[in-house]
Amino acid sequence: MNKQTIRDLPASLAGRRTLVRVDFNVPLDAHGSVTDDTRVRAALPTIEFLAARGARVVLLSHLGRPKGGPDPKYSLAPVARCLGALTKRPVHFCVSTIGDDAVAATQRMADGDILLMENTRFHAGEEKNDEALSRAMAALGDLYVNDAFGSAHRAHSSTAGVTAFLRPAVAGFLMEKELDYLGKAVAEPKRPFIAILGGAKVSGKIDVIEALLPKVDGLLVGGAMACTFFKAMGLETGKSLVEPDRVELAGELLERAGFRLTLPHDATVAPAMDAGSAAHAVKRDAIPADQAMFDIGPDSMASFARAIATAKTVLWNGPMGVFETPPFDAGTRAIARAMADATARGATTIVGGGDSAAAVAEAGLEASMSHVSTGGGASLEFLEGKVLPGVAALDER
Ligand code: 3PG
Repeated sequence: MNKQTIRDLPASLAGRRTLVRVDFNVPLDAHGSVTDDTRVRAALPTIEFLAARGARVVLLSHLGRPKGGPDPKYSLAPVARCLGALTKRPVHFCVSTIGDDAVAATQRMADGDILLMENTRFHAGEEKNDEALSRAMAALGDLYVNDAFGSAHRAHSSTAGVTAFLRPAVAGFLMEKELDYLGKAVAEPKRPFIAILGGAKVSGKIDVIEALLPKVDGLLVGGAMACTFFKAMGLETGKSLVEPDRVELAGELLERAGFRLTLPHDATVAPAMDAGSAAHAVKRDAIPADQAMFDIGPDSMASFARAIATAKTVLWNGPMGVFETPPFDAGTRAIARAMADATARGATTIVGGGDSAAAVAEAGLEASMSHVSTGGGASLEFLEGKVLPGVAALDER
């Protein structure tokens, strides 16, 4: 990576207020407890490294999508408690994000203290990358670290604008690790390099298909988006989700990709998503008119697993079916299992964030992957070859 990281900072950061943008956009339950602390745990190496060097660690994050003003539902207070339970250091919470009180709170900190500020999106300027807000955020620190890979595709005040007023601006360990794994996978993959793409809609995956096609040895497509390709092949897709305005493009992609793009050979179909007991497998050219595909079928699971077994690099983004609703989770689980086996055999296995990361966690296979990204949208945009504003804003080496 050509960006500076926290390794480039001085050995002692005693007395330095270090403003760290983390991605603590985590799910909360009805009682306000964090239900998945993956992103909080992922930020710990950076936070602990800085605190051990004597830094006063000031954390900024967004949570959810409040409408540009304070909304208690999206307060980061529960996340401060979650972080406190995960680290041995004192974690304080500031009810303001910026302003005199917030700055004063950062000035009262002792070396090694951690202070989480309230949700950046409680200020309408955040998502507009507003200059005044960026300046106010910069006043919270003496240097800036971005460890929020999951938010790096957003050009917001806390991820990009703030760096105009606060230097040095360097990457944290999580940011570095994410860029390293995803960057190496696309730039210098050990071959064969297989990518697996899934999800409901082909429209959200077109750019990534285009970007990956010239790089991969094989592209396996599952999920409901396979049905748009089936339609382009002239197959009956029944009540399956098809994007009519993408059928033509799907046909073009098929033609261009040739043998490198593999679609499922069979499908698990049912009359409705809540009719799991009626689910059964059919060949892809035999999807009944009154049923819909909710998962890839068992033959496809086996052939996708065989392809994964031959690969030295495997990249996966998007579930193979409606994985939240058994029995339509089988295809997604089969991919997770095949990837875990590939890791054990020495392949590099990378799971994009979002749904596929959730499915891997659900299957208890997180530790069996080389890397599970904490960024859904960010990893997709990175794989599409787009510049991530949160990365571009950091100091060059
Ligand atoms: C994510 O969860 O993908 C990131 O935290 C970004 O959140 P956003 O899509 O609301 O900007």
